[in-house]
Amino acid sequence: MNINNKVIVVTGVSSGIGAETARALRFHGARVIGVDRNEPNMTLDGFVKADLSNPDLIDDAVAQLPARIDGLCNVAGVPGTANPQLLARINYLGLRHLCEQLLDRINPGGSIVNVSSILGAEWPARLEQHKALATVRGFDSGEEWLRDHPVPVETCYQYFKEALIVWSVSQAQSWFMTNSVRMNCVAPGPVFTPILGDFVAMLGGRAEKDAHRIKRPAYADEVASVITFLCSEQSRWINGVNIPVDGGLASTYL
Ligand SMILES: NC(=O)c1ccc[n+]([C@@H]2O[C@H](COP(=O)([O-])OP(=O)(O)OC[C@H]3O[C@@H](n4cnc5c(N)ncnc54)[C@H](O)[C@@H]3O)[C@@H](O)[C@H]2O)c1
Repeated sequence: MNINNKVIVVTGVSSGIGAETARALRFHGARVIGVDRNEPNMTLDGFVKADLSNPDLIDDAVAQLPARIDGLCNVAGVPGTANPQLLARINYLGLRHLCEQLLDRINPGGSIVNVSSILGAEWPARLEQHKALATVRGFDSGEEWLRDHPVPVETCYQYFKEALIVWSVSQAQSWFMTNSVRMNCVAPGPVFTPILGDFVAMLGGRAEKDAHRIKRPAYADEVASVITFLCSEQSRWINGVNIPVDGGLASTYL
């Protein structure tokens, strides 16, 4: 994979899928600048400690990132056991804000990869809502829209992963046309990371039902390798898609 010497920003770098993504990118020669609210436990080419739930703090982090980058992997996220307002801010509004702030600093040919989830697979059921939110520009206006269109607490994780897929897919082509920057999503099924237990708690009976449909949860490196591919030259004609990386789980929902 050709990503040698590319400068890639990876959020959520201090644990799970983000940490494995940083490892895989560096293995292929990329320079990785990590962003996380926690310190990383590996060697990186740079690290910015930041809370990605707050637009002002995101702007502070952006100011500390290199002037030019080649990619952005948005991996940071919290499970549905988190406070719903915080979840909306981290998993959707803050991610969007970071992309918008960094877009003009990404070199032509660059790539943005957003980690969605198999739990966002039901986006067609709420497409019009997600499209409406996708057209609301800015973090604060997004929060205001969400105050007027409350999201059910028990399914807010699913809602914002669906919204992330719809925003990413609907935004991707215009950024490709104007900036030559691609944007895609990777949708993992269950992954062995520290928050897997939170997902099992959040899903209750559904987690048990799904357990029989897969061989096992993924290892984080199995997701990281697809994210790495989407950052590389070899994926240069892939844009505006959401790729399941779930050992076939989504295929069983047909
Ligand atoms: N583990 C799974 O089964 C699974 C399945 C599908 C999707 N995902 C998604 O994958 C992504 C990564 O999850 P993971 O399983 O590696 O979890 P993880 O908890 O191992 O890693 C998440 C990282 O994000 C960071 N983070 C969280 N909130 C932050 C904030 N406000 N500011 C800065 N950093 C913050 C954490 O510190 C942590 O390092 C998430 O978006 C999650 O929704 C996970």
